[in-house]
Amino acid sequence: MKRRMFLSGVLGAATASLFARASLAGESGDGMSGMPGMADMTHAPAPAPLAPLAAVDALAAGAPLANLRTLANESREAGVFRATLIAQPAAHALLADTPPTTFWQYDSGAANNDGPMIGPLIDVREGDRVEIRFVNRLAQPTTIHWHGLPVPPDQDGNPANPIAPGAMHVYRFTLPKGSAGTYWYHPHPHMQTAEQVFRGLAGPIVVRSADDPLADWPERHLFVSDLKLAADGTIAANSMMDWMNGREGQFVLVNGAREPRIGIVRDERWRVWNGCNARYLLLAFDDGRAFAQVGTDGGLLGAPREGLTSLLLAPGERVELIVRAGQGASSARLLAAQYDRRKMAMTHGSLPPTPMATLAQVAFAPQAAFAGKALPAQLRPIAPLVPSNVKKSVVFGEAMDMHAMHQPGASQRRMPQGMHFMINGESYDPARITLTSRRNEVEQWTIANQTDMDHPFHLHGTQFQVLARESGGNRIDETVLAWRDTVNVKPGESVHLATVQHEAGDRMFHCHILEHEDLGMMGTLRVT
Ligand code: C2O
Ligand code: CU
Ligand code: CU
Repeated sequence: MKRRMFLSGVLGAATASLFARASLAGESGDGMSGMPGMADMTHAPAPAPLAPLAAVDALAAGAPLANLRTLANESREAGVFRATLIAQPAAHALLADTPPTTFWQYDSGAANNDGPMIGPLIDVREGDRVEIRFVNRLAQPTTIHWHGLPVPPDQDGNPANPIAPGAMHVYRFTLPKGSAGTYWYHPHPHMQTAEQVFRGLAGPIVVRSADDPLADWPERHLFVSDLKLAADGTIAANSMMDWMNGREGQFVLVNGAREPRIGIVRDERWRVWNGCNARYLLLAFDDGRAFAQVGTDGGLLGAPREGLTSLLLAPGERVELIVRAGQGASSARLLAAQYDRRKMAMTHGSLPPTPMATLAQVAFAPQAAFAGKALPAQLRPIAPLVPSNVKKSVVFGEAMDMHAMHQPGASQRRMPQGMHFMINGESYDPARITLTSRRNEVEQWTIANQTDMDHPFHLHGTQFQVLARESGGNRIDETVLAWRDTVNVKPGESVHLATVQHEAGDRMFHCHILEHEDLGMMGTLRVT
């Protein structure tokens, strides 16, 4: 089986695997202890163990789903949304007998700021002029990136535009017609994005249009995040395995809580965000009940997709669903069902997939007045992007230097040595322009995943259309016309998409497993 490229020829296989087991011994909570071959490591040098993790039932479950906080508009001018966001530490009491857990979260600065650690919802309209005054009260530089929104390149929180600790910055952009959809904001500083997001910095954005055909459907927001909590109540640092595969904690949270309860009395429109660093969400109900999809990252589909029983939401992606009240009273669990993204083991081979997780417990009331309301057959017109013959190629690659990875202390470093995640053969370099495009020219991009694990591709500043997926000589044309900014690419797969940028400047594109992004699976697109 072709696995990955191992750079080191100096360590014999036996030595390499001995060291591999030694460093795995220090990795608690990665589900590794049950792996075959993990018992015979007693004489290997033991690195300092990482802090033990909190038990998987240490967080209370089953509270009613919390509403997200909404960012208040400080402007009285029509068509202007003006607000303040502060990135700062905030304590939340999570575990019974530890001090509160310190998150890093976005707050509005308003006095009454109670609610989940998820950043406040920015609820805006097409045509709005948005001005967000941002204050960095972290000890690290940071930025705010407006994931998926067509904002000017110099307002998009690129790693090249850090806001220093203590500094303030006003982000300004105008939301164009056609931009209605489900977005989010999160930091994007050079090599510190993964940590800032897993400590809590992320928040939802909804852009509304004046002619939304589903405007009168009751709307519910599920912002999914991931939490790896140590037993002492602190947020655990990344382990070597977290860096390699992307971090998945022992908890998956919806609006900041574990397995919240949702009661549905009418058919509802759900917006779901995957704000996890690396966890894939294969959304499904445990009783197999069907739901409909009405939107993607960049807003409504052309037509609803009825009768779905599962839907994969890769890290960074969003979706709009229709979830219907019951024929009779019933209940079901909303799951992140098991999905095998081919996580790597430290030596050859892959890890077992992440076990299924419950996202929410849902009680469905019998059909009420609104229930059973038919969806419009057409949601909105979407014009297919027709690519010129300008083509771009993005190749995901990885290389593991076993020697460097197994140096003493390698797993205790802030960022591990020896893991190379690359685009077109190179790790991210702020000084390098990876690709160049011309404004307003529709291009065809091919994203080829030459590694042996899944990577979600994300491009800033625009929404693209997937044209086809190709794997093992098989080409499957995309049948769903949709606007996306993030698309999963499986090992060995190539995804063809049509994309266009409308403003000159530099845009990032990268894997949205944030550890991979920080380790270099990112490039710069210069638009001229
Ligand atoms: Cu959601 Cu470059 O990011
Ligand atoms: Cu983005
Ligand atoms: Cu990746």
